[in-house]
Amino acid sequence: MSIDPSRLQSMEMGTSAVTEKDVHWQMVISRDTIRERIREVAREISEDFAGKEPVFIGVLNGAVFFLGDLVREMTIPCRIDFIKAASYGSEKISSGHVRLTKDMELDVRGKPLILVEDIVDTGLTLKYILPMIEQKSPALVRVCALIDKRERRQEEIHIDYTGFRVESGFLVGYGLDWGERYRYLPDIYALD
Ligand code: IMP
Ligand code: MG
Repeated sequence: MSIDPSRLQSMEMGTSAVTEKDVHWQMVISRDTIRERIREVAREISEDFAGKEPVFIGVLNGAVFFLGDLVREMTIPCRIDFIKAASYGSEKISSGHVRLTKDMELDVRGKPLILVEDIVDTGLTLKYILPMIEQKSPALVRVCALIDKRERRQEEIHIDYTGFRVESGFLVGYGLDWGERYRYLPDIYALD
């Protein structure tokens, strides 16, 4: 069953301070396309890490579904953990201030580590997180992002595994939020 976001909008209007009457929704990546692409990415990572047991570190909350679907397509053993970084508040543009509000708990020393992000936009979040991860002395660090959105990039970040490249737009669904809402939508929508 699919959810019509225009209905959600009106259903949620009553309890929300956000006025979304004039927001235009467009589905840009369907759940089927997401599933197919994740399968390809998981295959690539499984080949690259054959014989190893990588640790996937998801950046909460946005990466939760992506990581969950990605690891279930892996064909090699792996482990998972999460960190949480706060940067956005309810705005659509990065404040540039990133705080780590939850650290990983697995010991990753000497282990291959794959950092899993929902979306890389300005790059400020990863610029901040990557050195902190390096401090834990993993054998290597790779970056895997569901979406690489280049338009507003401020920091050059090397993304080793990319799900989708998009030029611009503000996206919600499949983990991506606007002020913590709409993460649960199974497809990805652009708002304007
Ligand atoms: P960056 O620090 O600007 O690279 O942004 C990283 C974080 O900003 C992501 O993990 C998201 O939480 C958020 N973000 C950036 N672009 C979008 C978007 O289009 N939709 C929802 N969240 C976004
Ligand atoms: Mg995020």
